[in-house]
Amino acid sequence: MRLCFLVEEHYRHDGMPVEVIRQLVAWGHRVDVLRPGGSLLRMSEVVSAGSHDAWVLKTVSGGPGLTLLEAAAAVGLTTVNDARSIRGVRDKALAAAIGRNRGLPMPTTYAAAVPELLAEIPESAFPLVVKPADGSAGRGVCLVPSPDRLAAMTGQLAGQGMLVAQPYVPNSGVDLKVYCVGGELYATERCSPLHPDHAVRERQVVLPAEVAAVAAQVGAVYGLDLYGVDVLLGPDGPVVVDVNDFPSFRQVPQAAARVARAVLELARTGRAGAPDVIPQAIIPEAVIPEQQPGAAV
Ligand SMILES: Nc1ncnc2c1ncn2[C@@H]1O[C@H](COP(=O)(O)OP(=O)(O)O)[C@@H](O)[C@H]1O
Ligand SMILES: [Mg+2]
Repeated sequence: MRLCFLVEEHYRHDGMPVEVIRQLVAWGHRVDVLRPGGSLLRMSEVVSAGSHDAWVLKTVSGGPGLTLLEAAAAVGLTTVNDARSIRGVRDKALAAAIGRNRGLPMPTTYAAAVPELLAEIPESAFPLVVKPADGSAGRGVCLVPSPDRLAAMTGQLAGQGMLVAQPYVPNSGVDLKVYCVGGELYATERCSPLHPDHAVRERQVVLPAEVAAVAAQVGAVYGLDLYGVDVLLGPDGPVVVDVNDFPSFRQVPQAAARVARAVLELARTGRAGAPDVIPQAIIPEAVIPEQQPGAAV
């Protein structure tokens, strides 16, 4: 297979894209790597039909990576994930509009071009979580406890472009990060950046069936093949607060090989953006009961 990976400088040494590329090369595939953030791009010649079996995007939001991927899709190349699906989740305002409309359990979400507009949000929605619409990795996420604190926080919220604001979902301080790769769902527990004092060891956990169903629905709603979902266990059940295309897959066993296999499968079938299998939850090996001696296999 001939693949082209778009990798931002930010992820240059990151285990995820680097290990996946190494694995693909070790299996005998050709991988070209484009670093859109660090190179002058000759856009008029950058894509050509039939040049690769698939283009794969692992970049930060807001960079030129998605533009390149869209160019590849426009000339008929397979992209991982589907370029329109990536757009649908990288803008958190768009993701909320699509997700809520398609029945995902997501908080009511407001979008504001400038922080002053947040003052119009009803008092009953506070405490609010405010985050940049194109944010990632917890950047700029902050808790606004009450309307009267808003004015004092405007300076801190300004200059981040479009903001989204949601009522704070009461939770234990632990995020459930659900990863989908190759039709399998894995769950990891991680401390919420809004509760940094809540020391929880990051580890793979059993995925509750109710959360697995929501995570599977996320793939279908946005048309994503490789993705991550941040879920909070709120008082009324699981709530989706964030969806990521090509996440870290941290704690997923043999993540690089699994992601590499999934990329090859998508490149081979030329299909991206319309998962036709319902992803299944995978039980961490550590909690699979030991085989009893003499038990039937
Ligand atoms: N509405 C919310 N209620 C409670 N906590 C939230 C809410 N939205 C986000 N958080 C917390 O903030 C973290 C970062 O927000 P998220 O939307 O995932 O942005 P990022 O793209 O930066 O990861 C989440 O993992 C979660 O712990
Ligand atoms: Mg997140």
